[in-house]
Amino acid sequence: MNKATRKAVIAGNWKMNKTPAEAVELINAIKAEIEGKDVSGCEIVTCVPYVDLVPVMEAAKGSPIKVGAENVHFAASGAYTGEISASMLTAIGVEYVIIGHSERRQYFGETDVTVNLRTKAALEAGLKVILCVGETLEQREQGITDETVSLQTKVALLGVTEEQMKNVIIAYEPVWAIGTGKTATSDQADEVCDVIRNVVAALYSSAVAEATTIQYGGSMNAKNADELLGKVNVDGGLIGGASLKAPDFYAIISAAQK
Ligand code: 13P
Repeated sequence: MNKATRKAVIAGNWKMNKTPAEAVELINAIKAEIEGKDVSGCEIVTCVPYVDLVPVMEAAKGSPIKVGAENVHFAASGAYTGEISASMLTAIGVEYVIIGHSERRQYFGETDVTVNLRTKAALEAGLKVILCVGETLEQREQGITDETVSLQTKVALLGVTEEQMKNVIIAYEPVWAIGTGKTATSDQADEVCDVIRNVVAALYSSAVAEATTIQYGGSMNAKNADELLGKVNVDGGLIGGASLKAPDFYAIISAAQK
C-alpha cells in the first residue's frame, strides 16, 4: 500500500460537548493555532453537535476547517421525532457525518444494519461519511477482532458503489480505547486498519482500498499522534477528548503533516 496516495484526515468528534458560544470560541482558538502554518498535509474536520453546526460553519469560514455532524437518520423525512435527515444537513452546508460511532451502538441501539441504512442515505445526499467500526475488549480477548471489524465493515458498505467509496472514510476505533486513556499500540492500530483495507479490496478492488482513508480513533493525543500516524495503514485520526483543546488538536494536525 502506498500511503502517499491518500490524504490524511484529522477529524475531531466533539460528542455532547460545547454550547454554540463555546463552540465558536473553540473554532476561533483552532483557527488561531493553524494561522500562518502549512496544514495542507491533512484535511481538518470538526464534527459537532447539531445546534453548533451553523455557528461553527460561520466561524470556520475562510479557514481550512471542514464541518461534520455526529449522526444522521436514514429516512428522507417523516415521523421520526428528534431525528435529523441527510438533506437537512446538506441544506445548511454540512459536508461530513460520523456514522456508527460505538457510543451510538452501545447506548442508542445502533446496529450494523442501521449503520448501513444511514451510510447509504448520507452518501446519496452527497455527504462524506466517517464510518466507525471497532471491537469491544471482550471481542479482542476472544480473538475475534478481525472478524468483528470485517463484519461491521462489510454490512455497513452493502449497496455502496465504488464511486460512492470516494466519499467514505473508515475510522477504526477499538471500543476499549475510547475515552479510557488506553491507546491501541501503533502496531495494533496498523494491523486492524490493514484488515479493514483488505476487506475494502475484496469488496471493491485494490485501487479502491489504496485510495480509502482509514483513521484510527481512541485516546489519540498530542503525545501519541506521531507514532500512530506514522504507520502505513493509519491515514488520520478521529479524536474525541483531545479535539476539545485547540493546542492538542493542533499538535495532532501538525503530526499529520509529516
Ligand atoms: P477519545 O479520543 O476521547 O478517546 O475518543 C475517541 C472517539 O470516540 C472519537 O470518535
